[in-house]
Amino acid sequence: MSSSLVAAAAVTSLLSHGFDTSIETHRARISTATDLSYGREETLSLLDELSTFESGRFLLKNQGLDGEWISYLILDAPLREDLCPLEHWMVHRAPSALATRARFWIFQEVMTARLQDNMRIASVPCGLMEDLLHLPTQGLANIALVGIDLDENALKMAAENAQSKGFHNASFIQKDAWDLGEENAYDLLTSSGLNIYVTDPVRHEALFESFFKALKPGAVLVSSFWTPPPALNPASPWVDVDPQDALKQKVVFKDIIGAKWQNFDMPGTITAQLTRIGYKDIQILPDPNWIMPTVVATKP
Ligand SMILES: C[S@@+](CC[C@H](N)C(=O)[O-])C[C@H]1O[C@@H](n2cnc3c(N)ncnc32)[C@H](O)[C@@H]1O
Repeated sequence: MSSSLVAAAAVTSLLSHGFDTSIETHRARISTATDLSYGREETLSLLDELSTFESGRFLLKNQGLDGEWISYLILDAPLREDLCPLEHWMVHRAPSALATRARFWIFQEVMTARLQDNMRIASVPCGLMEDLLHLPTQGLANIALVGIDLDENALKMAAENAQSKGFHNASFIQKDAWDLGEENAYDLLTSSGLNIYVTDPVRHEALFESFFKALKPGAVLVSSFWTPPPALNPASPWVDVDPQDALKQKVVFKDIIGAKWQNFDMPGTITAQLTRIGYKDIQILPDPNWIMPTVVATKP
């Protein structure tokens, strides 16, 4: 089977990007904000600095990240030596960036341990599908990868990514993650970077339910979630996070960019949601700072 791209009839809205917020809009908001953590001049100067590099401009415009920029943050940016000071901080010190990268490698370990012949594996939303295309599937028989995303551009790039990595048994489907329209279809399903945009707990749980339906009995979900920073919840599980970096992250991502990834859950909330749906053997595997834990759960 070769790579294929299928568009579903109805699509709903992209939660992570696709907005068109101007720098002037950010400047106006910052100019009147009453809850800034740095002084206004310093905040405005960071806004100007963000607009000098591409990932900063994407974040300002979209207030979130698409699959391409997540891939850049995880795999490419850490190797670059030409980053300006603010992008260097975002890539090498921002606690959420470090957690995002740690989470990627924890997913790899968890999924690698479960790989066997004859598996159909999905990534929802797939972005560039790096999570599946990095798995050591060579030598296994009959592995089919399915990338599902609402963003047509992400699907095209994921298909190119699969081709360039020499993986031919991959298909790509444009669908809303809440409406997969498939039952008992996958042996393994991975999902990261979407629920962080969903602040309504009912809708958040509905996403895990959509994955539950799509999994085969005995199959495993590998997902993740943000935990709340101590400034938002005194019971935050964060450990060993430099308070200056935590504060700067709040300034850059919330005060300036107004990032839309504002859903934070305690591990107990995630376990309760998954249990209500019917998942079993729920495991929470933390990154070193307990910022973006991985959750592994089985459909009985
Ligand atoms: C932050 S990226 C994460 C991509 C990938 N999971 C990763 O970790 O590289 C978020 C992805 O969610 C997709 N997305 C946003 N809203 C969606 C929806 N309602 N249904 C399916 N995908 C969606 C975006 O197109 C984007 O590829």
